[in-house]
This record gives sequence, C-alpha cells and structure tokens, in this order.
Amino acid sequence: MIAKTVEQAPQQQASQLGRVQMPDLSVDLAPGAKRELLLRNPVMTASGTSSNGLEFARLFDINRLGGVLSKGVTLKPRRGNPTPRIVETPAGMLNSIGFQNVGVRRLLSDVATVWETWDVPVVVNMLGDTVDEFARLAEVLDGAPGVAGLEVNISCPNLDVGGVAFGRDPVAAARVVEAVVSSTTLPVIAKLTPDVTDIGVVARSCEDAGADALCVANSFVGMSIDVNTRRPRTNRPVAGLTGPAIKPLALRLVWETAQAVDIPVIGCGGIVDGRDAVEFLLAGASAIQVGTASFRDPFTAIRVLEELIQYCRANGVTDISELIGAVQVD
Ligand SMILES: Cc1cc2nc3c(=O)[nH]c(=O)nc-3n(C[C@H](O)[C@H](O)[C@H](O)COP(=O)(O)O)c2cc1C
Repeated sequence: MIAKTVEQAPQQQASQLGRVQMPDLSVDLAPGAKRELLLRNPVMTASGTSSNGLEFARLFDINRLGGVLSKGVTLKPRRGNPTPRIVETPAGMLNSIGFQNVGVRRLLSDVATVWETWDVPVVVNMLGDTVDEFARLAEVLDGAPGVAGLEVNISCPNLDVGGVAFGRDPVAAARVVEAVVSSTTLPVIAKLTPDVTDIGVVARSCEDAGADALCVANSFVGMSIDVNTRRPRTNRPVAGLTGPAIKPLALRLVWETAQAVDIPVIGCGGIVDGRDAVEFLLAGASAIQVGTASFRDPFTAIRVLEELIQYCRANGVTDISELIGAVQVD
C-alpha cells in the first residue's frame, strides 16, 4: 500500500462546500527511503522527451505535474550520435540520440538552479559507461539543490558502451544499482530495458540491490531500412522504438514487473491519454511517464492528468491507490 502524506486540505474544503470531491492522487515513490519522493499526482514526464522541463514550464504551470524527469546526464558533456537520429514509424518513432547532454556540472549550475524554484520534484536520469562512473555521478548529484531523486539508466539502446548492456544482465544491473544507492541519500529509481526474456528477474535483482522504485520501461530496440539506399534510416543500424506502437508491450511488462517486486513501479511506453494512464495503473504502476506523445502535443501530460481526474470522478475513485494493480485477470 502506498503511504499518503501529501496535503489533503483542498479536498476536504471542496467536499464541505458540496462540490465534486477531488480524488486523492498522491503517491509515495520511495516508501521507507532515506529521503522521500512524494508526488501530488502520478503523472510525470519521461526522460529525454521534454528537455529538462524548462520549455514545458513556459507553456503551463509545471507544478501541476506529479514529477519531472531530466534528460539523461553523464559526468562529461556528450555530443551524441551523428544524424540521422530520428525516424517516424507507424504509431511511433525510432531515435538514436546517443545521450547528447551538457554534462552534470552544467546541469547543476544552469538548470538545477531553476528546478530549485519549482514545487514539483525533479528526478535526474543518469548514465555512466562503468559502475564507477554511475557511483561518481550519484555522489555529485547527492544533496544538489533542485534534485529530488535519481533515475538510473541501465537501458539506453543507442550506445556502444554500457547502456542496455547493464540492464540485460541481472548481475550487472544490481552492481550499478548497489553502487548508486551506496553513493547517495536520494531515492533511486532503476529504469529497466524491455529487451529481456524475463523482466521479473532483472526487476527483483534491482530491488534486492536497494532500488526504491523501478521505471518500466525504456525504448524497445527497433530498426528501419531505406529500400532505395539499402541502408538503415538511423546513424546506427538499430535504434529505440517509442510511442503508441509500444504501449501494449510496455503494459504487459509493467504487469509482470508489479507481480515480481514489492517496490513501486512507474509505467512508461506509448501513453497518450488518461485512459492509457489508467490502464498502466490497473496493471500495477504507481505512477506513469509521458514521453513521445509530448512531441506531437506538449500539453499531453497535463491532458493525461485532467483525463485521469475525470476518470476517477466518473468511476467513484476517491483515492488513486484504489486503481493501482486493480486489474481483474480471472
Ligand atoms: C528522443 C528521445 C530521447 C530519450 N532520451 C532518454 C534519456 O535520456 N534517458 C532515458 O532513460 N530515456 C530516454 N528516452 C526514453 C523515454 O524516456 C521513454 O522511456 C520512452 O520514450 C518510452 O516512452 P514513450 O513511448 O511514452 O515515449 C528517450 C526517448 C526519446 C523518444
């Protein structure tokens, strides 16, 4: 059961005034952790699909969201892969960005100083080439103002070194998680790859290594070939498939993961509306992340939140925990 500690006064006021009661959407993504990760609602942005949240903050009140994920960061700045890096596919896209980012020092000096002024928790998505690099990054980010948690990326499909290779191997995944957990007081989310035979094995391994929560999942490994040039359409032969095309696959993985572990699971993959979010919650997710859909409409995450609230009201759901894992399978 997810603990409830977020302010509830507005709901009480609303019911006293006879208005339709606002459901309690709050979730705790790191119950029992050294530092808490409380979300006022379960709708988060997905890493790499909203830069660092700054553009969204110019469009709408970013504090309405449950959480914001940063673009993945490394110790040193990276230029990423050469172009072409993006290809549209039926109901989705392939990307091969290759972790272009400004490096952790500039993220902290130029971006975290803005996050610090927000109420919404910002979780930093981070990646190293080695276990030691993950640990050093966690140390640098520990206690940094504006940073509420770490999402450990052991699932990037677009790199020559590290990335998805860590996440495919339960032992390597555990080593990375252990190293991060012992280098930080921040809540730690392990972001898993869908590119495994049994996600439950890797999920349990990360849980045993001390992860507070799991994000399921990163992009699927896909491919697209130009039949005229007979060459892959992206700079590397394979790339990450995201968007609505992967939703049923990600949903299945969330359901399997939620049955395998006792820590919160964050659902991610192809979510475009409130009904998708409800599906992920029913499958066992405690929160969800909106990614590719934001490229088509940057207000998607806010709309998902509004539609989730409408669903709760229409179905007499007063507390989001009533939905989490409530799918009926027999
Ligand atoms: C252009 C692009 C960049 C991404 N960058 C990152 C990243 O830096 N770190 C990460 O963990 N995931 C990254 N992702 C994966 C997303 O966070 C998310 O897991 C994936 O897109 C599936 O969700 P979606 O179908 O809603 O987009 C990226 C995805 C896209 C499309």
